[in-house]
Amino acid sequence: MEKGNIIETKGVTIQFNGLVAVDGVDFSMKRGEAVGIIGSNGAGKTTFFNLLTGLFPPTSGAIFYDGKEITRVPPHKRVMMGMVRTFQLVSVFDSLTVVDNLILSVVRFREDRRPKGGFFFADARHPSVLKTCEEALTIMGIEDKANLMTSELSYGDKRKLEIAVALSLKPKILLLDEPFAGLGDLEIGEVSSIIRRVKENFSFIIIEHKISRIVDLVQRLSVMHEGRLIAEGVPAEVLSNPLVREVYWGKEEGLACSV
Ligand SMILES: Nc1ncnc2c1ncn2[C@@H]1O[C@H](COP(=O)(O)OP(=O)(O)O)[C@@H](O)[C@H]1O
Ligand SMILES: [Mg+2]
Repeated sequence: MEKGNIIETKGVTIQFNGLVAVDGVDFSMKRGEAVGIIGSNGAGKTTFFNLLTGLFPPTSGAIFYDGKEITRVPPHKRVMMGMVRTFQLVSVFDSLTVVDNLILSVVRFREDRRPKGGFFFADARHPSVLKTCEEALTIMGIEDKANLMTSELSYGDKRKLEIAVALSLKPKILLLDEPFAGLGDLEIGEVSSIIRRVKENFSFIIIEHKISRIVDLVQRLSVMHEGRLIAEGVPAEVLSNPLVREVYWGKEEGLACSV
C-alpha cells in the first residue's frame, strides 16, 4: 500500500444472492485525513463499512490498513488494531449502566488483556480503565449519566454513549455510519461540534446522507452510487460534478432538500 495511507481498498466487491452491493471499489485515504462518504439509500455505504471493518469478507478484492493486508482479519482484531466504528442504528447494551457499556468494551479490546477470562472483573476496576471511560464520557458531555441504566437514556444520549465507547477504544481510524440519524437539530449540533473537536486525534470516515451536515467536518468527499465510487475530491469539486448532481440528487428539488 502507498506510504502515508491508513486505508486502501483494491477492487473490493461483495455480492448478496446476485446483487452486487459493493462493486470494484478502489478507495484510499491518508493518515489523519477526514473523509465523508455520501450517496442515496441503498448505494452500498454501510456495506462498504462492513467490509472495511470485517463484518464479512469481500467476494473479491483486497483491503489494506496501516501497512498490512487485512482482507480476512476478523472484526475484533481490527478493533484492537485501532479500527473502530459506530452503527447506523445505535448499538449499545440497554441492560447495562452507561459506564459499564464503556468498561465492557475497554476491557474486551485491551491489547494487554489477559489470555484467560478470570481476571475480567479485576481488570474492570483497574484505575486506568475507569479513567479512560470517564474521559470518554466527559468528551461526549454525558459524564453525569455514568450510573444510569442505558435503557433510560434518550436516543441522542445513546448515540453519544456509542461514540464514547468508540473513543474509549483509542481509534487510529474512526468510522461513523450516519451518526446524526434519528437526532434532533440541537443534538446534531452538539455531536457535530464534539466530532470537530476530537477528530484531530485520528483518521476519520463519516457516512452521511445530508451533505450540509458534513461539509465542514471533512476534507474530502467520496460519492457512492449503486455499489460504485462515482466521484471523489474536495467537497466543492464533488458537489459541482455533473454526474454526482444527476445520480445523487436527480432533480433540482432533490438538490435543494439534500444540501
Ligand atoms: N447482509 C445483506 N444481505 C443481502 N443484501 C444486503 C445485505 N446488506 C446490504 N444488502 C443490500 O446491499 C445494498 C446496499 O445496502 P447498504 O450498504 O445498506 O446501503 P446504504 O448504507 O448506502 O444505504 C442494498 O440493496 C441492501 O439491500
Ligand atoms: Mg447505510
